[in-house]
Amino acid sequence: MAAAAPGPEDELQEKGGVATHIRDEKPGDAAAVRAVVEAAFPQPTEADLVDQLRADGDSVISLVAVDDGKVVGQIVLSKLTAPFRALALAPVSVLPDRQNAGIGSRLIQAGLDRAVQDGWQGAFVLGEPEYYSRFGFDAALARNFTSPYAGRYFMALALNSELPVTEGNLIHAPAFAALV
Ligand SMILES: CC(C)(COP(=O)(O)OP(=O)(O)OC[C@H]1O[C@@H](n2cnc3c(N)ncnc32)[C@H](O)[C@@H]1OP(=O)(O)O)[C@@H](O)C(=O)NCCC(=O)NCCS
Repeated sequence: MAAAAPGPEDELQEKGGVATHIRDEKPGDAAAVRAVVEAAFPQPTEADLVDQLRADGDSVISLVAVDDGKVVGQIVLSKLTAPFRALALAPVSVLPDRQNAGIGSRLIQAGLDRAVQDGWQGAFVLGEPEYYSRFGFDAALARNFTSPYAGRYFMALALNSELPVTEGNLIHAPAFAALV
């Protein structure tokens, strides 16, 4: 299933009375992003992953959600070695007191829209099927790919009608080695 057509990812949207703006991460955002990722996850592993992906130049799309100048969410799509142009989506983080207000969904959709715009052919994610299926991710589509993350929580999404092939080897960026 293809991702939704590209939309204006910097649009302002009122949610609970607060205007949340989605934009590209800028160089000065790193500390604020780290604080958000550390707050979202119980251990620092994911915050270390975000920092390492950035340091290694493997962070391809990094978007932040900003409320009144404050970073409240972030998403990274990183380089993935695959039989076609593909990205790995992870992690997605929203400040605990801002969760369940649609920010994570907007970050994911904006990240996928950007990937479509930039000509990426597929995206892979390790996560809750119940959540990621909302964006078109499908575990069955990922089934014949080889990866340390393969399994029922590993899902694929075609970004341009269909994946060029539905099997092959996937190698995540080196920063992910800490997570396996
Ligand atoms: C997962 C996360 C990014 C979602 O962001 P969010 O802004 O809270 O999500 P949204 O408001 O867009 O969507 C909320 C919906 O997602 C569901 N959801 C959130 N996390 C979920 C999970 N782990 N599994 C299944 N569903 C989940 C909620 O139940 C809610 O469902 P509803 O729409 O039926 O009420 C955010 O909760 C978060 O940062 N969690 C901690 C870090 C994490 O687990 N990241 C994902 C793995 S990389």
